[in-house]
Amino acid sequence: MSTTYGTFPGSRPRRLRTTPAMRRMVAEYRLHPSDLILPAFVREGAAEPVPISAMPGVVQHTRDTLRKAAVEALEAGVAGIMLFGVPEEAKKDALGTAGTDPDGILQVAIRDVKAEVGDELVIMSDLCLDEYTDHGHCGVLDADGRVDNDATLERYAEMAQVQADAGVHVVGPSGMMDGQVGVIRDALDQTGHEDVSILAYTAKYASAFYGPFREAVGSSLQGDRKTYQQDPANLRESMRELELDLAEGADMVMVKPALPYLDVLAKVAESVDVPVAAYQISGEYAMVEAAAANGWIDRDRAIMETLTGIKRAGANMILTYWATEVARQL
Ligand code: PBG
Repeated sequence: MSTTYGTFPGSRPRRLRTTPAMRRMVAEYRLHPSDLILPAFVREGAAEPVPISAMPGVVQHTRDTLRKAAVEALEAGVAGIMLFGVPEEAKKDALGTAGTDPDGILQVAIRDVKAEVGDELVIMSDLCLDEYTDHGHCGVLDADGRVDNDATLERYAEMAQVQADAGVHVVGPSGMMDGQVGVIRDALDQTGHEDVSILAYTAKYASAFYGPFREAVGSSLQGDRKTYQQDPANLRESMRELELDLAEGADMVMVKPALPYLDVLAKVAESVDVPVAAYQISGEYAMVEAAAANGWIDRDRAIMETLTGIKRAGANMILTYWATEVARQL
C-alpha cells in the first residue's frame, strides 16, 4: 500500500541541487585550508628524499626537503605540520634512546622547521617510541616481552621535554599508555614548558590501516599492538579514554583512524568542549591512491569526499597526507 500526497510532490529537495551555484550556497560544511594538518616524515642521514612505495606521492624527507615542505604547506594555508622522525637503523635499540637524544632526528627536524617557519605554522611532533625501538613497539618491554606501561611513561616524560626544548608547539602522544597525558603534562610544566599543548590520541584503534606507516618510518613490528591500542569492536571504551585524557590535561583530542571510525568521531565531537582532530591515516591514503591508479575511482573527488565526511562527523582539524595539495585547491 502506498500513500499518495497529491499529483505532484509537495516538497522537492532537488530544487536546491539544480546548479553548482545553488549547491555551493546551501552547502552545510566547507573544508578550509586551516582545517588541515600535514603529517611529514624526516629520515636521518638521507641525501635524497626516499619514496614510500605503499604511499605514492609521500616521501621520507631529507632535512632540506622537509623545510621546503613546511614552507609549501604554510603558503598553501595549511594550519600545522605533524613531524615523525626516522632514525638510522643502527640507532634503534630496546629503549628507543634516539627518541630522547636532544640531537635525535625528530628534535633536529623540529628545530629546522621552527627556524624556517617560526610560529607561522603550528609545529607538532609524534610522541611515541615505535620509530626508535628495535622491536617496533610504542613502549619499552618488561622481562616477559610485554609492553611495560609505567616504565614507558618515564620515557615519554623525557621525550616531551626534549621535543619541547627543541621548540615544538604541540606534542602528540600516540602510544596509548595509561596515564600518558598526565605524565607528559607534568613533565612539560616542571621544565618550564607550560605553553606547549597536548594533542591526545584519545581514541586510537589497533588498525590494519596503519600498514603503510610501518614502511614510512622503517619499522618492523614484532607482534601487534592489541594490548595497548583499542579493539575496533568498542565504542563506549572511547568515552572512557576521552574522560581520562581530559582529566589529565589534554588540550585537544584525536580520533584515529578516521574513515572506519566516523561514529566514534561524531560521538567524541558532540561530547567535548575542546578542539577535536581526526587522523586520515596511511592506509586510508593508500586505499584511495591505489584505486585511483587503477582507474577505479575519481581520485580528486574521492579525496574531497572523504575529507568532507570527516569534517561533517565533527572534526575541527584533519591530519591528512593530502593537506598541501587539497589546501591549494580550496
Ligand atoms: C605511532 C603512530 C602510528 C601512526 C601515527 N603514530 C603507528 C601505529 O600506531 O601503529 C600511524 C599513522 C598512519 O598510519 O598514517 N607512533
